[in-house]
Amino acid sequence: GSANIGVTGLAVMGRNLARNLARHGHRVAVHNRTYARTESLVAEHGDEGTFVPSESLADFVDSLQKPRVVIVMVKAGPGTDAVIDELVPLLEEGDIVVDTGNAHFADTRRREEALKAQGLHFVGCGVSGGEEGALLGPSIMPGGSKWAYDRLGPMFESIAAQVDGTPCCTHVGPDGAGHFVKMVHNGIEYADMQLIAEAYDLLRQGLGATPAEIAEIFRGWNEGDLESFLIEITVDVLSHVDARTGQAFVDVVQDQAEQKGTGRWTVQNALELGVPITGIAEATFARSLSGHADQRLAAQQAFGSGVQAGWVAAEDREAFTEDVRAALYASKVVAYAQGFDHIQAGSEEFGWDIDRGRTATIWRGGCIIRARFLDRIREAYDANPELESLLVAPYFAEAVQNGADSWRRVVVAAATNGIATPAFSSSLAYYDGLRRDRLPAALIQGLRDLFGAHTYRRVDAEGSFHTLWAGDKSETNS
Ligand code: 6PG
Repeated sequence: GSANIGVTGLAVMGRNLARNLARHGHRVAVHNRTYARTESLVAEHGDEGTFVPSESLADFVDSLQKPRVVIVMVKAGPGTDAVIDELVPLLEEGDIVVDTGNAHFADTRRREEALKAQGLHFVGCGVSGGEEGALLGPSIMPGGSKWAYDRLGPMFESIAAQVDGTPCCTHVGPDGAGHFVKMVHNGIEYADMQLIAEAYDLLRQGLGATPAEIAEIFRGWNEGDLESFLIEITVDVLSHVDARTGQAFVDVVQDQAEQKGTGRWTVQNALELGVPITGIAEATFARSLSGHADQRLAAQQAFGSGVQAGWVAAEDREAFTEDVRAALYASKVVAYAQGFDHIQAGSEEFGWDIDRGRTATIWRGGCIIRARFLDRIREAYDANPELESLLVAPYFAEAVQNGADSWRRVVVAAATNGIATPAFSSSLAYYDGLRRDRLPAALIQGLRDLFGAHTYRRVDAEGSFHTLWAGDKSETNS
């Protein structure tokens, strides 16, 4: 075979990845279950580089140089297993199968193990950036063996987004590490969007501002520390006017947020690992709440909406807007800090040895959560790879401390005026909880010991203790 790399599954993501590879001088074998798609790709974009089309999977495999690199870009789930099952008998020892779908990392671990037993390499690879990213430069998060990365890494690095000359692609770690990191990326994406939505809601209700006016506020924010892709596209969405009604677009869209499930996976796994990713969890639950239309209607009928609109006095508008900005930034720092804690916990649990600084580096461009402050995160982990929490790195500690008064005023204003800000509030609670010298968890331990003899540890002695609550309340030590 003559092709350097192959892509099977030519829906829009696969198609764009194939084109991106071809545009960078790689000879790309292409295959799709229905051949018409393959033909249309070559007919429409054949001039962008070298495509080697095949109608059958066997011919596709034959068209590849050994050791072969086959990208599977199909909808995550059983479809991925079906394609792998078809591919495997056609491959030879040393060949590499890359899954660029949004697979659950546990599936990736299972597939990696199964293929390894057959002498094949399986690379679960996170890809972020949507359709446009796939074509023009995504952020790429490959897991799998070092050996596989040596073969495919240079090709992937050539098509990834580049920031300051550094590709947004690195070998994240073995087996499921790449998909795990992509999962956490999506969790952070949920938190980021929920925070943006809460900021918008506060400005709209507090100031009585129009979506177009709020778009201009976000445009200004995008010049500073908050500069990011999501803030940038918030400007686009908020300033968009619906052609059909002439109303703000955001007012004609149903207010029920959907999800494909990667945020849910993040929260489920964080619960298993015991990592308090409260911002991501609240963001995921906020989507669920929005979707419960019947309950929302019942509650609205029972209580009415509690919102006191337009509470910000004319002379306080600028200060309030600045408070919301600072609260958004501080909460965003918390969301990312929690996400990076989650990556660390996963890395320890599965022995992946993930470098958090390098993870921040490959999120600086191409992906949905790309943001100016990822450079700061990279610096923080470069300065101290063992950092206990991103929150205590000097730059972020200062940002959070400087913003704390604003953060509190915003959360108080939200509560007073009936605006739900679950992500703002829970991030502040996380910050305050984490920094407390003594938490009321001590009382919980006492309660657990009383009703279930679950024992407690003492501040002044080693070991586990139990109080004979029903007896003479003397203490026993085990
Ligand atoms: C990306 C995104 C993408 C994800 C969508 C939709 O990095 O390009 O994370 O992979 O599929 O954002 O996710 P939800 O449907 O769960 O919101």
